[in-house]
Amino acid sequence: MDALLGTCALPALRQRKSLKWRTFPDDVLPAFVAEMDFDLAEPIISAVTEALAIGYCGYAHKGALGEAFADFAQKRLRWSPDPSRVFAIPDVMTGIAEVITAITPPGSGIVINPPVYAPFFFRLGFAGRRVVEAPLRRLDDGSYDLDPQALDRALGQDDVSAYLLCSPHNPVGRVWSRDQLLTVADICQRHRTVLLVDEIHAPLALPGARHVPFLSLDHEMTERSFVFTSASKGWNIPGLKCGIAIAGSDQGTALLDERWEALLAAHLGVLGSVAALSESLPWLDAVLAQLDENRRYLSRLLAERLPSVGYVQPEASFLAWLDCRQLGLGGNPAAEFLDRGRVAVCAGADFGTQGRGFARLSMATSPALIGEIVARMAAAAPAVR
Ligand SMILES: Cc1ncc(COP(=O)(O)O)c(C=O)c1O
Repeated sequence: MDALLGTCALPALRQRKSLKWRTFPDDVLPAFVAEMDFDLAEPIISAVTEALAIGYCGYAHKGALGEAFADFAQKRLRWSPDPSRVFAIPDVMTGIAEVITAITPPGSGIVINPPVYAPFFFRLGFAGRRVVEAPLRRLDDGSYDLDPQALDRALGQDDVSAYLLCSPHNPVGRVWSRDQLLTVADICQRHRTVLLVDEIHAPLALPGARHVPFLSLDHEMTERSFVFTSASKGWNIPGLKCGIAIAGSDQGTALLDERWEALLAAHLGVLGSVAALSESLPWLDAVLAQLDENRRYLSRLLAERLPSVGYVQPEASFLAWLDCRQLGLGGNPAAEFLDRGRVAVCAGADFGTQGRGFARLSMATSPALIGEIVARMAAAAPAVR
């Protein structure tokens, strides 16, 4: 692995006291939560430790975040957002929940595309909104696609007020094309819905794929859209608590401004995010190269050890969506992998009923640990390998 990423040595990883490393006992290898095992980028460590060295942990000021994000977007996403429209938020889900609460009627329907990031379901529920499913279409090769007809039908329901799109998509790893996004925009425009786009995985579009930021489209629908992104996935700093919200209109920007107190990011998070976006691109490139290698390595390992598992390499990020239905482990193979193999992956059903019999694993680690993860999964399903 690139020296910038460290070695992912297990004894050092077990010193970490995060959710990933505290949820299960030490004999379990965790690969469930979307965290990376790589060392942090040095500029992020410096920015945070310099702030601590002067003994300051006050309320956050947006500081250089707008310029840092706009510069990153221009270099890497071919998009030039206005830095003054970049709004610091504590994290993506808080931003989404706050905007949903602000702009949609209580009890109204919000459309999502399952299988999709589990908190989409329960955060919308906590906000008192009804989840309306427009499931992704599963193609013969096991990959997934947006289903414009399902989306059109869902948005046509009387009480539907908004659509929450995941782009790139977690867990299926798709990077939606410009044409697909324009189709989405046309459908939303026809239904005069509000669109929220979760682009948290955008910095991790892998070689061969190009993420298209929704607000970079030349479409009137951008006026009724909000985009949420973050350095937290790309640079592995979710614990620093800083995300980014950008509204496509002045009214949307005013709505975010008014809610500044509910959306206050963490000071260290802003500093870490600026350091990530502006000074840590070599680190990001090392991660992208490693993830590219890892997604291919996982294909080879599964073909050898668990050939009946369906896996399509993701186009972005580090999550593998595994069809384990042929393993004979029932509707929740993740529970069997944990019990019998001592490896923790996410239960597919957490991403919607479409995920029964599937599991999601995080492969942002060393090839050696990916080997160990697959060996443990294989040990849990010895009879049907
Ligand atoms: C699609 C998606 N949205 C949001 C989040 C959570 O982000 P945050 O911690 O900024 O709320 C994740 C985390 O994995 C995610 O995959």
